[in-house]
Formats: sequence, C-alpha cells, structure tokens
Amino acid sequence: MTELDDDQARAELAQLAAMIARADRAYHADDAPIMSDAEYDALRRRNAQIEALFPKLIRDDSPSLRIGAAPSEGFGKIQHARRMLSLANAFNAQDVEDFVAGIRRFLGLTEAAAMSFTVEPKIDGLSLSLRYENGALVHAATRGDGETGEDVTANARTISDIPQHLTDAPDILEVRGEVYMSHADFAELNTRQAAIGGKTFANPRNAAAGSLRQLDPAITRARPLRFFAYAWGQVSQPLASTQRDAIKRLSDLGFVTNPLFSLCTTLDQMLGKYDEIAQLRAKLGYDIDGVVYKLDDLSLQDRLGLRSTTPRWAIAHKFPAELAWTELLGIDIQVGRTGALSPVARLKPVTVGGVVVSNATLHNEDYIAGRDSRGQPIRDGRDIRPGDWVEVYRAGDVIPKIRDVDLMRRPEHSAAYTFPETCPECGSPAIREPGDSVRRCSGGLICPAQAVERLKHFVSRAAFDIEGLGAKQVEAFWRDGWIKTPQDIFALKDRFGPGQPRQLKNREGWGEKSAQNLFDAIDDKRRIPLARLIFALGIRHVGETSAGMLAAHYGTWQDFRDAMRAASVADSSAHADLISIDGVGPVMANSLLTSFQAEAEEIDALAACLEVIPAQARASDSPVAGKTVVFTGTLERMTRAEAKARAEALGAKVAGSVSAKTDILVAGPGAGSKARKAAELGIEVIDEDSWLALIGAA
Ligand code: IVH
Repeated sequence: MTELDDDQARAELAQLAAMIARADRAYHADDAPIMSDAEYDALRRRNAQIEALFPKLIRDDSPSLRIGAAPSEGFGKIQHARRMLSLANAFNAQDVEDFVAGIRRFLGLTEAAAMSFTVEPKIDGLSLSLRYENGALVHAATRGDGETGEDVTANARTISDIPQHLTDAPDILEVRGEVYMSHADFAELNTRQAAIGGKTFANPRNAAAGSLRQLDPAITRARPLRFFAYAWGQVSQPLASTQRDAIKRLSDLGFVTNPLFSLCTTLDQMLGKYDEIAQLRAKLGYDIDGVVYKLDDLSLQDRLGLRSTTPRWAIAHKFPAELAWTELLGIDIQVGRTGALSPVARLKPVTVGGVVVSNATLHNEDYIAGRDSRGQPIRDGRDIRPGDWVEVYRAGDVIPKIRDVDLMRRPEHSAAYTFPETCPECGSPAIREPGDSVRRCSGGLICPAQAVERLKHFVSRAAFDIEGLGAKQVEAFWRDGWIKTPQDIFALKDRFGPGQPRQLKNREGWGEKSAQNLFDAIDDKRRIPLARLIFALGIRHVGETSAGMLAAHYGTWQDFRDAMRAASVADSSAHADLISIDGVGPVMANSLLTSFQAEAEEIDALAACLEVIPAQARASDSPVAGKTVVFTGTLERMTRAEAKARAEALGAKVAGSVSAKTDILVAGPGAGSKARKAAELGIEVIDEDSWLALIGAA
C-alpha cells in the first residue's frame, strides 16, 4: 500500500467508490447482489485503508462518509402488531424468590406444584422485532416506545444472523431478539473509525445502536452486528407450548439462540445458573448485564399476562454494579450548556468490569464534601480529595461514578477540595442558587464553554439536526470565529460561500460538494417546527417533551414569544398563567421567563432567519397517560424536574410517595423504602432506561 502514490490512490478510490455504490444499489434496490459479503467487505476495507493513508484524497462521495449519501427524512415508523415489552428487574436472590412466590400466589399454586423456568443471559444490546409473512422477512423495527418503532428493515437485512427467508414457518411470525456487537468486533470497529477520523463508540451497545440506526444501510452492512432471538410477537400458529420448545423452534427455523439457555425447576437451580453465567461473563466475548428467568409453560404465561410494560412471567436478574479502587489524580471542572459546573474525577486508569476507566463523575460540590442536597451526611460524611483512593463503579453503560473513599490511605498533608466560585472557562462568578445543588457560571453567552455547548445543543438531533454540522464541526467553526451564535449558522453561506474571500470549500476536510451540501442542509432547516425551535433554544429545564407541550399550547412562534416577553418574572399572574399549562412547573416557568428577558434580542434575531411551522394540538395517546408514576433513587439521564415534566406532559400524574394508587415506580440506583413498598403492593417497578423506552425517549 505504501507504494501507492497520490495519483494511483486517487484513481483507486474513484474505482472503489463506483464499485461499492454499484454493489449497494444491486443489493438494496434491486435485491440482486453482484458480489459476496466477503468481497464487499474487502472493498470497503481497502477503501478505508487508502483513506487512512491519504486523508486529503477522501472523496465527497466516499462510501465511508454518510453525508450527502443518505436520505434525510429519517426512519419510517412501524406499529408493532403486539407491543414490545420491557422486563421488571431483580437485584438479589430475595427479589427472585419474591418473583417466584408472586407467580404462585397469582396462579393459586401450592408450594408443591412444579414450575419450570428458563434461564438465559440478558444481552446488552438493543431489541429488534422481525416480521415474516409467508416465510419472507417483510420488516424489522426497533422497540421505540413499545407500540411503534423505527423501520430499520434495510439495515436488518444486512445482518447475517437474520434469515431473509424461512421454510416451514407460520404464515405470520414476529421474531424478537437482541442486536449486539461482540467485544472483538467493537474494538476493531473503533480502530477502523479512528483511522479514518470517524466517530468512535463508548461501548458495544452504543456501537450496535449507532450502527443499526444508520440512514445508509451500506454503513450498517459494514458493521459487524449480530442477533440472538429470544422471544416472539404476533404468530399465526403457536410456536410450541413451552418457552423452551418455542426457542428450539426458532433455532430450527435458522435463528441464532443463546447457547447458555437452560431449564430449571427450583429456585436454587435458578440462582445456581445465575452464578454460573456471572462466572462466564468475562469470557463470553459480548456484553450481558444479567440473566432473564421466564416461566416455561406458555399457557401459564398467558394467564399471568402483562403489567403496563412488563410481563408478570419473566424477570431480569441484574448483575451488581462493577467496582474497583484507584487513585484520584485530580478534579476537573467542566462547564455545560446551562453553565453548570460539573466536577469530573481524573483517575489513575483502572479496569472496572472489563472497561478501562480514567474519568468519573463527582456530581456536585456537596457530593465531594460528603453530604446530600439536604445537608445530610453521605459516606458517613467522608469528603473526597485529590490524592485519595476511591471506589469506582459502573452500572450499565452509564458514566462511571465514585462510591466511596478509603481514609486509611489518605495522604498525610492533603487538604479538603475547594469548589471554585468562579467559572474556570471565563472567570465569571459561579453562583449557587438556594435549593439548587449545582453551581453555575453567571457569564451566559460570554462564557466560551456555554456558548459552544449551546451551539452543539442547537444543532443536535432533537433540535435543528443539521446534516453535516455536528459537535466536531461546531467546535472547529467556533474556534475560528465562524459561528458564535445560532444565527451565525444561517449566515454561513453569505459569509463563507461562493464568491467570498474566505470559503468553506477551502477549509481542511471540506470540498466544493460537501460545502454546498452543508449550505443546502442549513437552508433546509430554516423551516422548522415550533417545538424543535423551542427545544433548540437550550433553555434550562425545557427538554424535548416540555418544548412539545409549550408548542402545542401556544401554537405559533409569535404567540409563544409574545407570551414569554409579556410575562415578567416579577409578574405573578403571567407566571401563574404559564404554570397553568399541564407539565410546566414554577421552576421551568422561571427559567423560560428569565431566558426571554436576558436574551430577547438574540432570540428575535434568530427567529428572523427562520420560518417557524406552527404546532398542531395533539391528543395524548402515550402509554403512560392517566398513570400515576413515582420516581425514586438517582436518575442518571435527566433531572427530577425534567423527568416529572416529561411524565406529566405525556398525561401521567407524578406522585411523591408510593401508595395503592401508584401504577409505575421508576427506581434508579439507591432506591430503598419506596421500592420495597412498591414490591409489597405488587406495583410495577422499572429502571430509568425502561422508563425512557416506555415514553419513547430512549
Ligand atoms: S425477553 C417478554 N430475553 O432486555 C419480554 N429480553 O430490560 C421480552 N433483553 O427489552 C424481553 N436479553 O431488549 C428478553 N434474553 C432476553 C434478553 C432481553 C436482553 C433486553 C430486551 C428487553 C430488555 C428489558
């Protein structure tokens, strides 16, 4: 390869682009492949290798770039014929015992009555439903909100574990299972991505999700995804009368089923299998995060039925969070989009459950000082200092956290950590409002960190979602002063387009075609739905769902903007009006009014570049509408306030304590008495991820 000169490399890249495009068309559009998968993979590998050596020669239409090649409408929606379920969780042997006892009670079975359970690993990937009609794969859909998922049929067809045709299958058969990526393939993918300057992934699950959810199936095809079948949806004839035989049938039909699948008849056997699988975990070569027990008898499964999102006949027994001790080298402060100062632990790298960890979150200054938000001691009041030995843990794919500190190993002259009272990025005072656990930079948009984070948010998927303008490009443009504010994005073509002294197409990594594509993509988004615009403004506490509610309430940009401007923070009637909207609480109202006051001109200048599409009123058909929900434990992906707002926006009632009226308890790590009470009352308990999946936000 090193013998190639520029001209040869250019010629070969052109040839490869043409060949791969032809193969893609033949495969996807004409259903008539012109080469084997191995040949195809070899072409793509060769393309990636040459691009790695000659990055300057990467073509605008390179098969390794999605930009320009992909349709931009996103995925179509598919309504599942039968809902895709989630699983309730067990965290210890007692929970499993309760699960088994609960089933006996529900069915009125005595201790003596025999019951069998299947045991299998819980694969840490993403679930997929495959629909076959008369033996042919007709569509594939992600779980989505359980009712409706994304149509990823073209992508699923590229996965070799997924048969395209079945013989002797029921006329209608929906097969469900998990798409995942092996550790080895994950490592190789990341190496390959890094070599071509592409996106790398934090873990195999993200890699699998990112690869399956590609608009361009050619990209999915180049990613080594696998599939285990473990369940089914609609079937025109029953597969079998037991779970075990149904899985055997799926395997006979050509699906890959998990080899660690087994059948148990006692609780001890089930827990024994759990231990066995936990022992094998590190050697499996793919991520699992627990085991799943399912009642074997399908007629009993039927009788037990479902809670709102989980079956009563199955449970996931999760592995405990993984732990390790290491040295805390220092504490860095990161400044986020809303100015929040987040302390990050810099750690001496340590392996936690097979992953090397060198950073962990420290939450906020109280957490470091050893107290909770109400001033009560945590870790018996032990604070955390640079130089300390700390216990790190990971649960699922969330950011690692610090659980504890070893005072015996504390260096002799260490001093307690002082949390900065000025912003490390811009020097403005960092202020902590009463009742807030977070200290925030007061610099607003003069703070470079806030400005960049807000721009990244502005272009993110749920906001303006501008093709070709991601976090990396925003950072680069910001650094060079090309984009400082959202409205600068819409001036990009005038300032750096054709005929200008400095032009985008001449920047490193850009060319005529990609520059034009970006200008077009930006122009495309000048017409924007009201909800997206409101979300894109990046106002604190206003998440995607709240933005949707506000849009539905006000209808047009003009009405929304006028209401925000007319109402002042001090004017309590305007405030009251705002919080009368279902899902808007005083905190969000305050935040909205403050932002519109502080950034009036900027917001108007932005709106002047846009044509805002009015919102239509929508009926709440969410699966949580009318349900009473309680949140407990730590939420890791959103604040309590946002969680509540979202839930309420979807028509759910959020209560502070568990009672017989509660429908769903969302329990994060550290859940205690509420989770116990819910279990006693037989209330459905799900984790944050399942909740997000349920409300369609996963
Ligand atoms: S059964 C009827 N079996 O875990 C219930 N799910 O936390 C359908 N998962 O949504 C699921 N491995 O994505 C089942 N062996 C397994 C599984 C499994 C992984 C996933 C699945 C589910 C989630 C629930």
